[in-house]
Formats: sequence, structure tokens, C-alpha cells
Amino acid sequence: MQRIVVLISGRGSNLEAIVRQCQAEDWPARVVAVISHKADAAGLSWAQGQGIGTAVVDHRAQTSREAFDEALAAAIDAHQPDWVVLAGFMRILGDAFVHRYAGRLLNIHPSLLPSFPGLHTHRRALEAGCAVAGATVHFVTPTLDHGPVIAQAVVPVRTSDTPESLADRVLVAEHQLYPLALRWAVQGRLRVDGQRVTQLDGAPQHLFCEEP
Ligand code: GAR
Repeated sequence: MQRIVVLISGRGSNLEAIVRQCQAEDWPARVVAVISHKADAAGLSWAQGQGIGTAVVDHRAQTSREAFDEALAAAIDAHQPDWVVLAGFMRILGDAFVHRYAGRLLNIHPSLLPSFPGLHTHRRALEAGCAVAGATVHFVTPTLDHGPVIAQAVVPVRTSDTPESLADRVLVAEHQLYPLALRWAVQGRLRVDGQRVTQLDGAPQHLFCEEP
């Protein structure tokens, strides 16, 4: 049984989607711990309610970014994970941390990468006049929001959209996308060649999320 550690900063709705699908589809894996840098992250309480272990590594208690990364890695390694999953984790991680978990560190980003890395993705997509927006699950590399793409979900932009309404609809797509991509990972159904990720069964690595 593979072991997944999930890192969160807040709400944890992607965490919930992952845990529910992991159980519903009987993956050869389970979420063994949820770790946050914020003690008040709502997802921690939810995880505790599910009987999942939690930990807090407060970035403000650390003297440097490197010290935080090391403390975080120690908390993660205590659970001996096969996979480390960033689910709304809003801290930038240093190169040493990323290399430590290379090939088993996943992230979800609320844009169609390589467009709009960083913050305020939905506002920037609207300002750019994009007809579609979406989310990307990718392997994490030292360059922020730039690693090999496992799967993407596409959501149409409506003329009435605000950053908030677009974020809400992209989030619904994220809840489909992240469990799908992570299931492929734990099933060993992904091959990485440089920036290209292949789903070995030939399953589509995109979701088109259309509204009625
Ligand atoms: C999600 O929209 C996720 O894509 C985003 O934070 C939100 C977390 O929601 N992540 C990033 O912006 C990372 N750069 P959640 O806590 O409900 O899963």
C-alpha cells in the first residue's frame, strides 16, 4: 500500500476530493498524513475527522526559508511517503526540497500552464481575454509552476465571469482532475520523458468541463 502525504494551506477541498476518490476507487494507496504551515487550515480539522494524522510546521517559527523546508521535510519523512501532494499549498519550496522528492512530488495549479504561473490566475486569465481557463496537475520541479504536465482540465470562460465565479467553476474541475492524475501516479500509469508525461493506457490527459 503506497503512502501519500498531502500538504495544504487552507480549505483543503482538493484534499477531500483525493481522500474520497482514493477510498471510493480502492487505490493501492492511502493518505497517511496532512501537513500545513498554518495551524488554522480548515483542511486539518477535516482530516482529523477522517482519522488522518495531521501536523503543523509553522513557517513563522523558522529562521529561514531553508530551515522551514528542512523542518517540513522532517515532518513529511516521519510518514515515509511514496508521494507528496501539494493541494493548495501556498509556500514556495526550495531546490533542495524539490530534489529530495523528485518524481514523487505533485502540484495542482489553477491555470492552464504554462500560462499564468504564480498568483491571481483567474483575474489574469480574464484580463488577457482568454476564452478558456482551467487547472493543471504537474510534477514539481525547481522552477515554479513549470514541471511536466500530467493532466489539464479546461473550463470555458463566460462573459459574465468574475475572478471569483471562474475560480469556483475551475475548482469543481480540480476535484475531478487531481484524483484522476494522482490515481495514475499511484498505479504506475505515468511515464515521464523530459517535460512530456505519457499516460500508459492512452487515457486522455485532459478534461473538457462544459456547463449546461
Ligand atoms: C486550489 O484552487 C488550487 O488549485 C490552488 O489553491 C486552491 C486550494 O483550494 N493552488 C494554488 O494556487 C497553488 N499555486 P483547496 O484548499 O480547497 O484545495
